[in-house]
Amino acid sequence: MTFKIGLLGLGTVGTGAARILLDPEQRHSLLPELQIQRVGVRSLAKPRQVELPPACFTTDLKAIVTDPEIEIVVEVLGGLEPARSLILAAIAHGKHVVTANKAVIARYGDEIYTAANQAGVYVMLEAAVAGGIPVIQPLKQSLGANRVHTVTGILNGTTNYILSRMQQEGGDFSEILADAQRLGYAEADPTTDIDGLDAADKIAILASLAFGGRIKLSEVYCEGIRQVSAADIAYAEKLGFVIKLLAIAHRAGKSRHSPDQDQLEVRVHPTLVPIAHPLASVNGVYNAILIEGEPLGQVMFFGPGAGAGPTASAVVSDLINIAALLKAGLAAGHSSEEVAVHPLLICAHQHYCAVAPMSELNTRFYVRLRTLDHPGVLGKLGTCFGNYGISLESLVQTGVHNEQAEIVVVTHRVCEGDFHQALDEIRSLDAVDSVPSLLRVLQ
Ligand code: HSE
Repeated sequence: MTFKIGLLGLGTVGTGAARILLDPEQRHSLLPELQIQRVGVRSLAKPRQVELPPACFTTDLKAIVTDPEIEIVVEVLGGLEPARSLILAAIAHGKHVVTANKAVIARYGDEIYTAANQAGVYVMLEAAVAGGIPVIQPLKQSLGANRVHTVTGILNGTTNYILSRMQQEGGDFSEILADAQRLGYAEADPTTDIDGLDAADKIAILASLAFGGRIKLSEVYCEGIRQVSAADIAYAEKLGFVIKLLAIAHRAGKSRHSPDQDQLEVRVHPTLVPIAHPLASVNGVYNAILIEGEPLGQVMFFGPGAGAGPTASAVVSDLINIAALLKAGLAAGHSSEEVAVHPLLICAHQHYCAVAPMSELNTRFYVRLRTLDHPGVLGKLGTCFGNYGISLESLVQTGVHNEQAEIVVVTHRVCEGDFHQALDEIRSLDAVDSVPSLLRVLQ
C-alpha cells in the first residue's frame, strides 16, 4: 500500500521529516509505504535540502489540503494562521493530520478535535510537546492504567539552557540571553520562550491528556524567567536548590470554595528544585517530563525537546501510526456515523477541566527582602507571617549592603493567597525597603 502525504512547510522540522521519509532503510518497515506527494512552501525559488521532484512543490497550500489523492497532511508551518485554517480544511476534506503546532492545539484543540471526531480522522501531535521525547503516546496509551496525579516538565530548552548557564557561570540573565541569541540557542525575539508561553502551551496539552479534559489556556498561570537573578541562583544553591522553569499540572482535589468540584493546578513558573530531585540535573537545551501516578510511582522521560532530527522523529512516528491504522482499517477518513477509529488515538473528551486559581495553590515560597538593619526587624517579619498562619522553614540574614540587610525566607507549604496577604503587610512595614524576589519551591 502507499499512503500519500501532503507536507505543509519545509523549514527545519519539515526538512527533517522529509529526509527520514526519503531514507527509510533500517527504519520502520512501514516507512517505504509513506510517500510525499506534495510540499507546500512560501517560495519556490528557495534552495531546498531534500531531493524531491520540482513538481512536488507548490505555494498553493489550500491545494494540498483539498487534494483528493492525499490521505495525510503534515502541518509543520508553525504560527496560528494559516496553520489553524489549513488543519481544519484538511479535516473537512477527510484527511488525517499530523502537526507539530503546540500553539494551535493549545488554543484551538476544542475546535480541531470536535471537527476531527465528526470527520472520523486522526489529529496526531507527538511533535508538539518536547520535540523528540515520546510523551503524548505514553500518556494516551502506555500509562492508561494509572491515576496520574502530577506531570512536571522542563518543557522549554531555551530557558533551561539560559538557567543552566546562569547556574554554572554565575552570570546575569540579560548577558546570558544575549550570548544565547548570538550562539543561536535563543530566538531573536525570545518572548515566547523566555516568558513561559511556549511551556504553557505544552503543559496545557499534557494536562489535557493526563487528566482527560480540555484546558483553557487562559487559566494556565504563566510566569517566565526574566526576573530570575544571579543572586537568587546563588542563594538557592546555598540552600540546596537549583532554579528551573517548571511546567506543572497537578490534580489538586476539591476546591476550597466549591467543595463538590475537583480542580487541577496548571502552571508555569521558575521554581526552586531540590538538588536531589530528578529534574534538577536536567541541564542545557534538554527537556524532561516527570509523570507521577498510582500505582506506577514516578516515570521520567528525558531527551532533546527541539531540533530538526528529534522533532521530525516524532512527526514520522505519528505518520507510522496512521499508516498502521489505515492498514488495519481503523481509519475511515470520511464523515459517517459508523466510522471505525482507534479509541486510544482520538481525543474523545469534551468537557473543560476546572483549573484552580493561584490563590488556592498550596506551595512553599522563597522570598528575598531588603530591610533596614535595625533591631527587631526579623521579629516583625515573623509576626506578619504568623498572622496568616505561615510557618517558616528558614529565615536567614545573608548580609548587609549600604546599611540594608538582605533577608532570605523559605516557607513550609502555605496557601498562596495567605502568603500574598502576609507579604502585603510586610511590604507596608517602615523597616522593609523592597521585595526583590519571590519564587515558588517544589515540594
Ligand atoms: N522554542 C522551544 C524551546 C522549542 O526552546 O524549547 C520548540 O517548542
